[in-house]
Formats: sequence, C-alpha cells, structure tokens
Amino acid sequence: MPELLELRDVSKSYPARRGRGRGLRAVAGASFTLAAGETLGLLGESGCGKSTLARLALRLIEPDGGTVRVAGQDFTGASAAATRRLRRRVQIVFQDALSSLNPRMSVGVNVAEPMRLQGIGSEKERRSAALELLDLVGLRPEHADRYPHEFSGGQAQRVAIARALILRPDVIVFDEAVSALDVSIRAQILRLILDLQQRFGLAYLFISHDLGVVKRISDRIAVMYLGRIVELGAAAEIYRAPLHPYTEALLAAIPVPDPRRMRVRQLGVVEGEAASPLDAAAGCAFRARCPHRMAVCDQATPELLPVLGRHDVACFLHTAPPPPERKAA
Ligand SMILES: Nc1ncnc2c1ncn2[C@@H]1O[C@H](COP(=O)(O)OP(=O)(O)OP(=O)(O)O)[C@@H](O)[C@H]1O
Ligand SMILES: [Mg+2]
Repeated sequence: MPELLELRDVSKSYPARRGRGRGLRAVAGASFTLAAGETLGLLGESGCGKSTLARLALRLIEPDGGTVRVAGQDFTGASAAATRRLRRRVQIVFQDALSSLNPRMSVGVNVAEPMRLQGIGSEKERRSAALELLDLVGLRPEHADRYPHEFSGGQAQRVAIARALILRPDVIVFDEAVSALDVSIRAQILRLILDLQQRFGLAYLFISHDLGVVKRISDRIAVMYLGRIVELGAAAEIYRAPLHPYTEALLAAIPVPDPRRMRVRQLGVVEGEAASPLDAAAGCAFRARCPHRMAVCDQATPELLPVLGRHDVACFLHTAPPPPERKAA
C-alpha cells in the first residue's frame, strides 16, 4: 500500500532579512511517511521548523529540494491539474482558527469554501455539504448563518475542522490546533479529532508543544531540532527509551504535574544555547548543548538512521559515523 504522504529529504531556506547574511535554513533534509489511519506527532521547540515542514507537506510553500508525494504521486513536480487534485487530499487546521476563517463570510460559506475553490457542486449542494459537516463536528444547523466572530475558540476550531474535512481528505495536518484552548475544551476537541479519525480512517500529522497531548494521540513521534528530524519511532518507544540526547532532555524537562495548580505539561526548556540555524557547517547541530559530545560530532552531521527496528535516530552515540571524506584535489 502506498504511503498517503511521503516527504523525502525536503529542505527550505528563507531569504535573509533585509538582504543581509545567509538565508535561514528552516528545514534541512527532513523525511517522513504517513500511512492511512495513523497519527505522527511532531515535537520540537519553537522555531525548529515544524510549521515550515507542515507548509511544505501541503505545498503552501515550495521546497528548495526534496520531494513530497501524496498517495504515491509526485506532488512537488505535479502539473496544475494534478496539483489541484492532490491538494484535496491533504488539509490543515491551524492554531488560530478564527483568523483562518473569512470574517465577512458566514460560517456555512466558510466551511464550503474549499468546494467552491475546487469548483465542486452547486451553491445548494455546497450549503447542504456544509450543514452535514457542521453536524459531524458537533455544531447546529443555525450556526451556518452566523459569522466567525460570534464563535468561541473551541467552536471556531470545530468550524476549521469541518472545513478541513469537506473535501474528504486522506490526511489532516494539525498545527498547534488545540494549543490555545482551555484544558476542558482541549479535551473535547481532541476527542472529536480522535472520533473523526476512527470514522474516516484519516491520517494525521499532529504538531504540538504539549507532550501529554502528543503522547496520547500519536502512534509514532518525530522529534525536530533546528530543521532536522533527529529521532523518529513508535510513540511508546520514544517515551519509554528516547535515544537522542535532545529527546531525552525534552522528556526529562517535563515539569512535574501539580494537581493543585493544574499545570499544563509543556515542552521544558532544554539548557544551553541553541546553535545558530545559519550555521550550516558540518557537525551535529545539537553538539553545543549535548552532554555526550564526542570529537566526531564536530566533524560530521549525523543522519537519521534506523537502529532498533523502526526507531530511527540521528546521533553518533547510536549510529556509525560516516567514513572520512577524501579531500577533493
Ligand atoms: N516567512 C518566513 N520568513 C523568514 N523566516 C521564517 C519565516 N517563517 C518562519 N521563519 C523562520 O524559520 C524558522 C522555523 O520556523 P517555523 O515557524 O517553521 O518553526 P516552528 O517549529 O513552527 O515554531 P513554533 O513552535 O514557534 O510554531 C524560525 O527560525 C522562523 O523564525
Ligand atoms: Mg509553528
């Protein structure tokens, strides 16, 4: 069975601000796959490139290199017609649903908008599809005629999910989609997200800072550091026995939950200075903060390689360093 979504060695740099210096390498050769019905959680501290990776997967931005495949078909090099067709299959829900909706359109029209953009159905058919989707996400028919500003954060997130579903995609990317919600609302939306997955066999790429949420929802987890995926494996395996020192530090930095304060589990801040993402020189990007730094970590960049079955890690503690490069004459 072909993977529903496959990113292979994709990279993306943003131009230097005000034309000074080198560009910023937001994603540096990331690869992952997503199969029907599975959830891949994407973890990593702010600025490591999670949203950039998500945008690349949807082709909201074009990669500098690498390929994106949707249902086995090349998305990166697709014709305009094929692009349009493939775009239906991968949808996204953002953190701030309210600002992702058009404030001048009713919620019903917002939900049906992807159909209109794809040239699907008559106005009447789109309206009835929108009503069906609103019902599916737990909203009432009368909500269709209200405007986004009349909705609470949780309701707006339901609307965004309805809109993401209306083209019957195979894959939905959630980019911090529950992060801004109160704890109780977050639990409701997560339940809805899990329900919908069961019902439609959807594959999810689930980006979140919240370790508890990612652990609960993910089958596999990818950990990103400065534009690279440094560890990828089964969620239970990653939480039980993380291999990369960065993952270890992330998990160890979970604040102890204090029931009296109902503190939300957040990614802890890992000590030490992050290397500059501008620094494209050879060497492991994590070495400056790594307690296990070895000589080879300064000389070569570790690749993401399988070490224990399907558990992959980019770290010379676990994988053999590459043979020394021969100097070009
Ligand atoms: N449009 C842009 N132009 C220039 N730099 C950008 C742009 N978008 C993102 N960046 C930079 O690229 C890097 C990766 O950003 P990205 O938004 O992908 O990170 P993130 O992991 O999603 O962070 P967060 O957890 O805060 O959402 C950051 O250094 C960011 O400042
Ligand atoms: Mg982001």
